[in-house]
Amino acid sequence: MSSQLTDFGALRSDGDRQLLSPVSRVGAYLSVGAAAVAVLLIWRRGLFGRAIYAWLAFVLVAEGAGVWLSTHSGQRYTIAWYMARAEGLLANSVMLGVVAVHFRAVQKRLTDAYLTLQHRTEQLQAQVQKRETAEAQLARAQKLDAVGRLGASLAHDLNNILQVLTGRLAIIRRRAGESVEGDVQVMRRSVKKAEALTRQLTLLSGRRRNQPRPLEVAPVLAEMEDALRSLVGAHCQLHLSAEEGLPRVALDPLELEIAVTNLATNACDAMNLGGRLRIHARHASTPDHPQAIAIEVTDEGEGIKPEILGKVFEPFFTTKVRGHGTGLGLAQVHAFVTGSGGTVQVDSEVGRGTTVTMVFPATTATAATANGRLDAAAVERPPLEGKVVLIVEDNADVRDASSQLLSAEGLAVRVVEDAPQALALLD
Ligand SMILES: Nc1ncnc2c1ncn2[C@@H]1O[C@H](COP(=O)(O)OP(=O)(O)OP(=O)(O)O)[C@@H](O)[C@H]1O
Ligand SMILES: [Mg+2]
Repeated sequence: MSSQLTDFGALRSDGDRQLLSPVSRVGAYLSVGAAAVAVLLIWRRGLFGRAIYAWLAFVLVAEGAGVWLSTHSGQRYTIAWYMARAEGLLANSVMLGVVAVHFRAVQKRLTDAYLTLQHRTEQLQAQVQKRETAEAQLARAQKLDAVGRLGASLAHDLNNILQVLTGRLAIIRRRAGESVEGDVQVMRRSVKKAEALTRQLTLLSGRRRNQPRPLEVAPVLAEMEDALRSLVGAHCQLHLSAEEGLPRVALDPLELEIAVTNLATNACDAMNLGGRLRIHARHASTPDHPQAIAIEVTDEGEGIKPEILGKVFEPFFTTKVRGHGTGLGLAQVHAFVTGSGGTVQVDSEVGRGTTVTMVFPATTATAATANGRLDAAAVERPPLEGKVVLIVEDNADVRDASSQLLSAEGLAVRVVEDAPQALALLD
């Protein structure tokens, strides 16, 4: 053991090292323990800020304990030893002080960076969602297009067949006379139904444009009554009504018929156990159009659940079992009504029934006749005899039937297969 030392150089002697070693070891253990606790706090609890103060406190305790041990051990220490401890204490305090001061700024920057990152992530998620919606819409549009093409090609072929049937029926009627009138009428009605079906196919295919004209709705509905009764079946009691003096509306009569048919079909599908189907046309008004009409189709069926009410106009949305619904009925209604400048609304209560209301603005335009259809009796037919007609038709059966029908009317008929042949003939 050495006597008291007064200079730094003396610290290097063996005696001093022996003197320092037990105290230094305790100090070192405490320092390591303090650091370990600090690291643990940072790692386990994320208490970075508090951990720094904890570390500082432990270092102070460690250094203080070192000094206390040194003064109470009964041994004597050099000034250099005290200087070294003070220096360590000062260095640790300054370093931790600086870290603590800057910690808040760093923490704020980190928080800002986190918020920016979160904002960007939300923006990205919104973009991804937008893209997914657009992709879904594209897929739906492609599906519609595919159905449209199929419908258009089917409608075209069926139309040719029906034209042949119509032509031949007229010829049969002419040749066989009154005796076949009843049968011909039945066949004509069937052909008309088939024609209505092909028109629906053409409409859905989007190949046919909405052709509005000034129309009185009440007669159109009245004309539909028989067809609707046979469509809806015995379990549905059909009630058709219209208020007097309804103004005219600019509508495509064919599309109106199809829309009402679609709504009536839905209504009866919803009334498995039967019920009343009411189709009513009434006066209405909207903020933009004080003069308007409303057509309501009301049933007493199962109703529509609120969670799907917003989807029913979407093309291909259906709750019916496979093969019983394509989900295009209300899509046609929506396209027709909005395409005619009107609005459509569905009110439904589960277990009580549904009302679909189509509202159309009145039109001031006038038509040649009330329904925009030419009244055959009122129009004097010009004499056909001696007139020449050129038929351009690629389907041989349609060509023959049309040619025979027109010849029977006294027309001179020329028949060609395509446009080049027709042009050659005209030259
Ligand atoms: N009157 C109604 N009562 C109850 N649910 C209805 C009614 N009208 C429509 N819906 C619901 O809306 C869905 C979509 O109707 P929409 O007419 O577009 O297609 P669909 O009837 O299923 O098939 P499609 O008309 O092409 O044969 C139906 O499947 C049904 O769930
Ligand atoms: Mg339907």
